[in-house]
Amino acid sequence: MKSPIAIALLVTCSLPVCAQDLAALTAETRSTVLPVVPKVIATMQEAVANEGVAGAIPVCKDLAPQLIAKKRAETGWDIRRVSLKTRNAARGTPDAWEAVQLADFDRRAAAGEKPETIETSVILSSNGRPVLRYMKALPVSEVCLGCHGPADGLDAELRRTLAEHYPSDRATGYTKGQIRGALTVIRPL
Ligand code: HEC
Repeated sequence: MKSPIAIALLVTCSLPVCAQDLAALTAETRSTVLPVVPKVIATMQEAVANEGVAGAIPVCKDLAPQLIAKKRAETGWDIRRVSLKTRNAARGTPDAWEAVQLADFDRRAAAGEKPETIETSVILSSNGRPVLRYMKALPVSEVCLGCHGPADGLDAELRRTLAEHYPSDRATGYTKGQIRGALTVIRPL
């Protein structure tokens, strides 16, 4: 298999989209999609403070996917949340390209890059058509630890609820500053 970088170079130099500016497309994608992230985090903080971690589950389970679905409907782009260690594998499993980027995000964070600035953006060919693929790391902040931190430190009621709804949960054991996953966008050009 060719590496994504080799394919990206090939595509950017052989398609009309060449003329478009990757930086401008990336900036526009960022400003369209990223406002979802602080919205979810603020709602999460409020819900955890008011209802405790078990009561706040719907924010990560329902609100985040709903806000993403709304953006998908507005833009026509494919927007998802993915992780190498999923809680909900049906929704959050990365494709092969995304898995490579997530592993790279982990390496970049471990090497000292600020997790909140980690992202990647390339133009690739998908079924013969150019697409912008954009991914933005979702770092583990204090509020995430209540539901994604080390399993033995989690609230007992939360553990029961998680075991009931997510028997294959792999999304615990994180520490602050690690990469929990990413917001991922496939934007047809
Ligand atoms: C109140 C509990 C709770 C908190 C706090 C929480 N999450 Fe989650 N998270 C969940 C649940 C439940 C799911 C499964 C959602 C689903 O069913 O799609 C999830 C899923 C995810 C996913 C999708 C991938 C997967 O594993 O299925 C990401 C990414 C994620 N959380 C990131 C975060 C980040 C980043 C934070 C902190 C800003 C955070 N979460 C805080 C409960 C929580």
